[in-house]
Amino acid sequence: MVGITETVLRDGHQSLIATRMRTRHMLPIAEALDGIGYRSLEVWGGATFDVCLRYLHEDPWERLRALKRAMPRTPLQMLLRGQNLVGYRPYDDDLVERFVREAARQGIGIFRIFDALNDPRNMRSALSAVRKAGAVAQGTICYTRSPVHTLDAFVALGRTLAELGASELCIKDMGGFLPPGDATALTRALVREVRLPVVVHTHSTGGFSTLACLAAAEAGATAIDTAISPFSGGASQPPTEALVGAMQGMAVDPKLDLTALSEIATYFRGVLEHYRPMLNPRSLMTDPSILQHQVPGGMLSNLLAQLSEQEATGRLTEVLAEIPRVRADLGYPPLVTPTSQIVGAQAVLNVLAGTRYQQVSREVKEYVRGAYGRAPGPLDPVLVEKVTALGPADQASPSTLKEPEFEAGLREVRTLVPAADDAEALSYALFPTVFRAFTESRAEGVTWDALTTAALGITAVMRSSNARARTGATRFAPMRSGNSAWAVEGRARLQGGRRGIAEGRARRGW
Ligand code: CO
Repeated sequence: MVGITETVLRDGHQSLIATRMRTRHMLPIAEALDGIGYRSLEVWGGATFDVCLRYLHEDPWERLRALKRAMPRTPLQMLLRGQNLVGYRPYDDDLVERFVREAARQGIGIFRIFDALNDPRNMRSALSAVRKAGAVAQGTICYTRSPVHTLDAFVALGRTLAELGASELCIKDMGGFLPPGDATALTRALVREVRLPVVVHTHSTGGFSTLACLAAAEAGATAIDTAISPFSGGASQPPTEALVGAMQGMAVDPKLDLTALSEIATYFRGVLEHYRPMLNPRSLMTDPSILQHQVPGGMLSNLLAQLSEQEATGRLTEVLAEIPRVRADLGYPPLVTPTSQIVGAQAVLNVLAGTRYQQVSREVKEYVRGAYGRAPGPLDPVLVEKVTALGPADQASPSTLKEPEFEAGLREVRTLVPAADDAEALSYALFPTVFRAFTESRAEGVTWDALTTAALGITAVMRSSNARARTGATRFAPMRSGNSAWAVEGRARLQGGRRGIAEGRARRGW
């Protein structure tokens, strides 16, 4: 019997509607979700923390507490970027420990800890913090394909993670190109050699994620990640009901109630309708070519944006050919945030300049100096020499580079919110600017509801004018006309919100 981790409350909406699902759309179905018998529900981490504060004007901690209250039985799970927590740079060990302790206290039972480079040093303090907090530490292996990513190398990483305190392992296929054969081999080898439960996380981009999940289950995986059907497919996970149904009667049958699941699916179909303007049809497309180029959808759109800024969109093919070369020079990092941007941007520089590494980006310099951690394979010596000439190489772990950060954060946040608790101090320490704006808008009575509705309306207007601007464009179908209920409501809400902000400022004599 294989366990199911439901991702609709985190990766599902992160992959399809840019993480915009609000807490008020989660709570009405929480009791039903809690009754299914999922192994766990992924609800937090990744972009949810940032997006809650920045765009939804919701307190992510409040969401977590509300979800735990509503779902007391099912373990709640979060994704943690190792030493980077839920942010974009490494934090000190003290902050890592405090963040994990608070998240565990407020309801997270399983922490999935990963590092973009698979560098165990970037996961070490998070793993030990989770153990200290008494929660489940899921050590993660980011799946990628390269000459240095052999089965033996993955198993060795699994062993290291176990030594560092992981009590289960996750095979994480961020790009959606884990073929069933690799899923079988990797799951089987990890289960046999490391002797820890193995969970498989994949995305449907390449079109074979259901096959990979089934293969992993049959090879002995303890659990697989799926998303309830309305939030499944494409850039998201494979559909929960499809896998549950497909495995019925097999030895791996998860034995979940399909009728109860279909009621949940009906609910989320309504939720998806609500966010329809956020849904980029591209994110639902199947792209089996990812098996060859390994360039995730998000990275591809970044590349196109960079090239169109330089009026060089015609050179995409050259850039796509340059990406594997840059990746090889950098020791084959998996292409996931932030390495996907680092590799992509340098490939663009190399192509547009005509000479490779004539210009070296700041991020590549830092990468070569070890600021992001240890690369999976050896770096290109010529590139290393070039960067070394610019300053001393530093292979130190990011965790040793910083001074204590929590106390400073607490002091500063109390100038904003005098009664700030640990959770608010952590939000501030992670996202100072965003948290400042969040507290201001909260004080001014701007609700997240108004703001996201406005954002949805604006997106709808932009989508429709985009579609009109392109003659015969089919990239974005005109989802809604500029005068749709969404657009009208969005504009009205935005104007209302602005008025609210202006009135708030006037009242306080700004
Ligand atoms: Co994912």
